[in-house]
Amino acid sequence: MAKGTLQFADLVAFIMYFSYFSSSITGISQTISSIQESITGETRLQELEREVTSIEVSPRNGATQKIIVPPQINFKEISFHYPDCRSNALNNISFSIPAGKITAIVGSSGGGKTTCLGMLERFYEPQSGSITINGEEISNLNLSTYRNYVSYVDQNSVLATGTIRDNLDLGDVSYSDQEMMTALRQVGLTELARTSRRSLLDEPVGEQGLSLSGGQKQRLSIARALLHHPSLLVMDEPTSSLDGLSEQKIIDLLTTHKNELTLCYTAHRLSTILKADWIVVIDHGKVLAEGEHKQLMKSCDYYKALITSQVDKYKTISN
Ligand SMILES: Nc1ncnc2c1ncn2[C@@H]1O[C@H](COP(=O)(O)OP(=O)(O)OP(=O)(O)O)[C@@H](O)[C@H]1O
Ligand SMILES: [Mg+2]
Repeated sequence: MAKGTLQFADLVAFIMYFSYFSSSITGISQTISSIQESITGETRLQELEREVTSIEVSPRNGATQKIIVPPQINFKEISFHYPDCRSNALNNISFSIPAGKITAIVGSSGGGKTTCLGMLERFYEPQSGSITINGEEISNLNLSTYRNYVSYVDQNSVLATGTIRDNLDLGDVSYSDQEMMTALRQVGLTELARTSRRSLLDEPVGEQGLSLSGGQKQRLSIARALLHHPSLLVMDEPTSSLDGLSEQKIIDLLTTHKNELTLCYTAHRLSTILKADWIVVIDHGKVLAEGEHKQLMKSCDYYKALITSQVDKYKTISN
């Protein structure tokens, strides 16, 4: 990559597939569901507004500690520059991603949104600052364990050559056909059943998903991410190739998962931005503001301009 022969997206895809293939998520999701069951058995805890569960994460030093899910994330004074780049992609940025909510990172193209997600997914280490998850620095946590409860949906929806099943289970045979079909139905991908001779799950996707449309690839990537029951779901422009109605369906689906997981996506489209509970505004590697939509419309001129430009565009179209 430093020599310019490997693109960031390719590196992301490689790491993503490697991490998925090399470690099974089953143990973690079983732990989560058994803890959820025991928690739901406690009447006192039923009064809790949000279901809180915990999984064990082994940090580098071998000790274990509890991570509360859905997790709260904090970026603190993060600066980062890509290898061989003189200027910083992120300049001393701090912001929060609240637990069990949808956070949208918005702002100009090249502003640093994808880079923030890359930090969160630990594709890169920041040169300074820290990212904490429930107060614990993520750099202290065992990487493969950490990745087991984070799902990442890439901006380019990278797929593997093979079948829909291959792309959903990523080699983990513990998922039932029913679970996978439910995930496909949720994202509205049943249209891919092209012949009655084979199951939808055995439908080939072509070389690296070439026989699917951009929106179908995106929906398959989202189905895969949800199937793995992450505690933290990180998505880079997850609905950019979708039509308005499909986008609405996906965002509604994500909203139903809100309390079980912390969701953070980057977004340019107004409809996706407005679905977020918390918005972080980034421009030229700096955080300009963070907060709820209404509050930002009053306090952040840049955000207001970003939103107004899209509202004006819709007005022009509808007149
Ligand atoms: N692999 C890389 N190597 C060097 N510089 C990079 C790399 N990836 C991104 N950058 C630079 O880092 C800065 C932030 O890029 P980033 O991809 O985070 O922007 P973004 O906000 O996601 O933009 P967009 O909305 O277009 O996706 C940009 O100046 C970009 O040119
Ligand atoms: Mg980006």
